[in-house]
Amino acid sequence: MHKVMSAMALAGLGLAVVLTCPHAAWSYAAFQRLPHVSDGAPYCAGCHSSVDAAYQAELPEAGSQAQVYTTKHYKALEEGTGAYKPIEPEQRKTLLEQAKKIDQNASVKLEASAQTVAPGGTVTVTVTTKSGIGPVVGVMLVDEARRYQARPIQGTGWFIANSPQIVGTDGKPQSQWLDRRVNKQQTNLNYVLVYDVASDPSKDMYATSKVTYLLKAPAAPGEYPLTAAFLYGTAEANELKSSKYEDPPGGGSAPSGRIHFSNTLKVRVQ
Ligand code: HEC
Repeated sequence: MHKVMSAMALAGLGLAVVLTCPHAAWSYAAFQRLPHVSDGAPYCAGCHSSVDAAYQAELPEAGSQAQVYTTKHYKALEEGTGAYKPIEPEQRKTLLEQAKKIDQNASVKLEASAQTVAPGGTVTVTVTTKSGIGPVVGVMLVDEARRYQARPIQGTGWFIANSPQIVGTDGKPQSQWLDRRVNKQQTNLNYVLVYDVASDPSKDMYATSKVTYLLKAPAAPGEYPLTAAFLYGTAEANELKSSKYEDPPGGGSAPSGRIHFSNTLKVRVQ
């Protein structure tokens, strides 16, 4: 376990070096600025905090708990440790209150048009999210609710038959994410970035989004799990106000991002 932890710390250090390099105009904290427009799996969001210890239950108990937002983020804010060392207690208190409201109001739900489908038949699945401070939130369609082992849904034999349909908080379809994809023939991604997300906890306003995927079922009969991963932030989206990039409080490797899994649907192929 010690070995695992130091490997993780090392990986984190590598990222931190990249993130604090003044020539890097972007960081992970502003995902919309990254050139990554492809399929995704939640393991990549190493800095984010998990909403539940069960997501990484294969780790030793302490390691699993260390990833949970109450420990990884809230406790660091309360005690002024890690990324939050340089931040004044007053600001930490405000950040904590804000993060709690964003988290308490956060939800992600997965629904399918059918529980049973013929091999190679189609089914529509819809992911509905609420909360996330913005300016974007991420949605991934994966098999299981496992932080380090979930796979893009294609991995178990599903085929994403169409471009995901993305509806933002304003209720309108949006195309910013898929417009950035170079290969216009293959925009059937399992990962989606929803733009123009802005929650305002001081007004009790929480952004919503909806992502719909058309799936073609695997050829082999069986029961297949489907889960949505919801990736969101809890710290002020300064960029929306100042229209230029600002690091989140605690910097680009702060634990203020979240990995939140939806319910898992078991779709029967027969
Ligand atoms: C180096 C640390 C780090 C890594 C690695 C990382 N993130 Fe983040 N991420 C952050 C931080 C910090 C935030 C800001 C959270 C906030 O608003 O408080 C964030 C926020 C986000 C957001 C919400 C956007 C926002 O502005 O609030 C999305 C979506 C996201 N990350 C996706 C990903 C994905 C996908 C990956 C893997 C490819 C990833 N992140 C990897 C640190 C990281």
